[in-house]
Amino acid sequence: MSQVLSDEQIERYRADGFLVVEGLAGPQACADLRRRAVEMVEEFQPTDQRSIFTTNEQDRISDGEFLASSNGAWCFFEEEAFDDTGALRQDKALSINKIGHAMHDLDDTFESFSYTSDLAGIAADLGLADALALQSMYIFKQPHIGGEVGCHQDATFLYTDPMTVTGFWFAIEDATLENGCLWAAPGGHRTSLRKVFKRRGPSFANAGGTEFDVLDPAPLPSPADLVPLEVPAGTMVVLHGLLPHWSDVNRSATSRHAYSLHCISASAEYPAWNWLQRSAELPLRRLDRSAVTA
Ligand code: FE2
Repeated sequence: MSQVLSDEQIERYRADGFLVVEGLAGPQACADLRRRAVEMVEEFQPTDQRSIFTTNEQDRISDGEFLASSNGAWCFFEEEAFDDTGALRQDKALSINKIGHAMHDLDDTFESFSYTSDLAGIAADLGLADALALQSMYIFKQPHIGGEVGCHQDATFLYTDPMTVTGFWFAIEDATLENGCLWAAPGGHRTSLRKVFKRRGPSFANAGGTEFDVLDPAPLPSPADLVPLEVPAGTMVVLHGLLPHWSDVNRSATSRHAYSLHCISASAEYPAWNWLQRSAELPLRRLDRSAVTA
């Protein structure tokens, strides 16, 4: 496979732990993905038990629907979507935090956005020649209530041995300081993994819930140590699995839609205690669409 990134881009990724590539997704591809995500929210019928998404560990709702979304396309509400009586404060379309976590293998539009030769080539350039497409998220960062995503390392939530998880984050709309752009710590990937998010044993079944295991109590950087990544729609940001990153609450009147696809190496060990577990009916696939033999 021929190299997609320049040597300078590969070097910058190694030095910083992230890489910003403007114009990787065309306007039509972004518009198609946005339209499909909005349709999926329209089709979504909430159940009585509402799933809210947050990365704040005290509040994380580890219900069966969250774990089951390993194999689905589930809509999660913003934390501030409901009033005290449990009614939505605004339209459902403006209340969803994200859709997750298997749309890339369940929906044609998401599949064509995710499984491209460009992305497979970029993953290979960065050391993931055998990338498996593990997790997809469409993040709405809704106007006024789009929740903060606390500083974290993606390897906490998608652990492999050795660490291989890599995030490919696409701005579907312009990401600005006002609407909650990404923030990252340049070079911050040269550090330890602080904690892992695990299913509770012994069977790791959905009903067991989840917990965090602290591996290193050293704090992650505070937002003051991070730099903002304000990027126009169509930009891809690659994030190393150990890179501390964060995004602020969106109090602006403008949404900040983004799509992220997390990949791991097919040759790394993926423990059965990871929260995201695919069923036998929906096996992981290689980004380059070659057969998975691992
Ligand atoms: Fe993340």
